[in-house]
Amino acid sequence: MTRILVLYFTRGGHTAKIANAIADQLMSRGAQVDLVDINSAAATCINWPDYDVVAFGACVLYGTYDKSVFQFIEQHAQALAALSNSFFCVNVVARNPEKRIPKNNKYLQKFIMLSPWTPMDLKIIAGKVDYPSWPWYDRLMIQLIMKITKGPTDPKTVIDYTDWEDVKVYADHLLALAEVAEPA
Ligand SMILES: Cc1cc2nc3c(=O)[nH]c(=O)nc-3n(C[C@H](O)[C@H](O)[C@H](O)COP(=O)(O)O)c2cc1C
Repeated sequence: MTRILVLYFTRGGHTAKIANAIADQLMSRGAQVDLVDINSAAATCINWPDYDVVAFGACVLYGTYDKSVFQFIEQHAQALAALSNSFFCVNVVARNPEKRIPKNNKYLQKFIMLSPWTPMDLKIIAGKVDYPSWPWYDRLMIQLIMKITKGPTDPKTVIDYTDWEDVKVYADHLLALAEVAEPA
């Protein structure tokens, strides 16, 4: 049975929802999955050799990633690199399909530049705009980003841009990564 570790950083819960959907799809395919928030107690006692594949997801906040994302990676860069691995980046600029291509997404490029772990596989997933749930200062800043990138600026806007079918395809792709890693 393929064993997959799905790690994630979330601030508002949407990346957690994506990570859950990945885990559900993997389990529906018969994989054994552990889903771990990198800021939870469970993240401190991961037994890395238990897994064939690790997927790590994080949302973009103000053009970068929460510092806990890089702290976790610094601590576990070797363990991450020792498994078949993938990084998925969640952001709302990716609502534009062109920005889901790694070379066109500056946030993914920034991750590659700053991370001490170089993922062997990359995925960009469009996130959620949820102005009503964000404090006024975040709302204002995202409205500004949206104005620049021609997105919604109405403060009542709640739009889930995630392509949930594509999330399932990504989960299946993670299983394929495990097969690549298996000895011939
Ligand atoms: C404070 C804040 C800053 C954000 N900054 C960006 C940004 O710079 N670029 C972008 O594309 N999306 C940005 N987003 C959108 C998030 O990446 C998106 O809402 C994502 O779904 C959030 O995931 P989470 O619910 O797991 O935190 C930002 C969201 C928040 C709340």
